[in-house]
This record gives sequence, C-alpha cells and structure tokens, in this order.
Amino acid sequence: MATIADPVRYNALARTLHWVIAALIIFNLTTGLFGEGFEKIWASMPAHKATGFMILLLSLVRLGWRLRWRTPDYPVDFKPAFRKFAAATHGLFYILMLALPITGWIFASAGKWPLSIYGLFDWPKLGVTKDMAIVGASHELHEVLGFAFAGLVVLHVGAALYHHVALKDATLRRML
Ligand code: HEM
Ligand code: HEM
Repeated sequence: MATIADPVRYNALARTLHWVIAALIIFNLTTGLFGEGFEKIWASMPAHKATGFMILLLSLVRLGWRLRWRTPDYPVDFKPAFRKFAAATHGLFYILMLALPITGWIFASAGKWPLSIYGLFDWPKLGVTKDMAIVGASHELHEVLGFAFAGLVVLHVGAALYHHVALKDATLRRML
C-alpha cells in the first residue's frame, strides 16, 4: 500500500477534495432544507440537482483516494474512544455522500424536468416512473438521510472546533 508524504496532515488531494465537497454539501443542505423559503428570489432546485451530481462524482474520486492511501497517523495521546467515534462518523459520511445523490437521481428521474448540469448538458435519467415503489422509497430516504446528514455535519464541525479550541490539539490542522 502506498503511503502519503506528510505524516501529520492529509495530502493535498485529500485536503482539496475535503473542502470542495464540504462547500458543495453545505450548498445542497441549505438549498434542500431552506430552498422553498427563498424560491421567489431564486429557484434553487436545478442547481441543487446539478451540484448533487458533482458531489457524487467527486465523492467517487475521494473514495478511490481513501481506499488507496493510508490516512495520517493520529498523535499517540489521541484517545481511542475519539478515534472510534471519528472513524464511525467518517464512514457514515462516505455512505451519505453517495446515498444522497443516488436517491435524488432515482426519484428526480421520474419527474418531468430534465436533469440539467448548469444548462450545459443533461445528465441521463434512469428508466423509472412515478408509480414505482423505488421512486417513493428513494424520495422518503432522501429526506430522512438529508436531515441525518445535516445533524452529522453539526457534530463533525463541533468536534473539529472542540479539538482546536478546547483541547488545543492538532486535529483541525490535519485538514488545513
Ligand atoms: C449530496 C447531495 C445532496 C444532498 C446533501 C441533498 C439534500 C437534500 C435535502 C436536505 C433536501 C430537503 C429534504 C426535505 O426537507 O424534504 C433535499 C430535497 C430535494 N433534493 Fe436533494 N440532496 C442532494 C442531491 C440531490 C440530487 C442529485 C437530486 C436530483 C438529481 C436531488 C433532488 C432533490 C429534490 C427534487 C428535492 C425536493 C424534494 C421535495 O421537496 O419533495 N438532491 N435534498
Ligand atoms: C460539511 C461537510 C463536511 C463533510 C461531508 C466532511 C467529511 C469528512 C470526512 C469524510 C472526513 C474523513 C476523511 C478521511 O479520513 O477519509 C473528514 C475529516 C475531517 N474534517 Fe470534515 N467534512 C465536512 C466539513 C468540515 C468542516 C466545516 C470542518 C472544520 C470546521 C471539517 C474538519 C475536518 C477535520 C479536522 C478532519 C480530519 C479529522 C481526523 O483526522 O480525524 N470538516 N471530514
């Protein structure tokens, strides 16, 4: 297995992907949860869908990176309980980063609108119709997992800030 050059920081590709995907996910959580509120000013759903597909593609690249490289070792005094908790949260993030776009893709394929990528070209639709059980199920799942995702992001950011501000350790700097 290949190792990364810098032992105390994620490498440049991992850091770039982390922050780009984080920004896109915050955009999608905001437009998903609050889009209806500002619909009169800006209909954000086409951008929500297109950005969701960008998140799917970038997450696949990121997962490929993750399976190929070893992450930097934690400091020796990093509590094993924190380590396990972080690993569980990160694992769930990877699942959600794929599950949200895929469930969105399934139920939006049954809708009348094209899946336009910022007006440049159309993303292919899946061969589903509104009466299929999988369409209803993926719609429900998209909502439930969307809320779970928002909750986990709050937890993750809280943990990063807790390490940085209260514990004053190098956890946040691993990703900067
Ligand atoms: C990581 C990517 C994504 C995230 C985090 C995300 C998140 C969300 C959230 C939180 C909601 C609001 C749920 C609710 O309050 O009912 C939502 C709604 C929605 N999403 Fe996504 N989404 C993503 C990707 C996609 C994709 C790829 C599509 C379609 C191609 C899509 C289509 C929709 C649609 C049409 C709604 C409105 C559903 C309704 O109001 O009934 N999303 N999304
Ligand atoms: C909003 C969406 C975000 C998502 C989906 C996300 C996802 C992830 C994932 C999956 C990892 C694990 C990387 C790996 O080992 O493969 C990670 C690590 C990390 N993230 Fe985030 N992140 C987000 C936002 C943020 C923000 C806003 C901060 C800072 C305030 C942050 C700080 C960190 C830090 C410090 C690590 C390294 C933790 C460690 O080494 O254990 N993340 N993030």
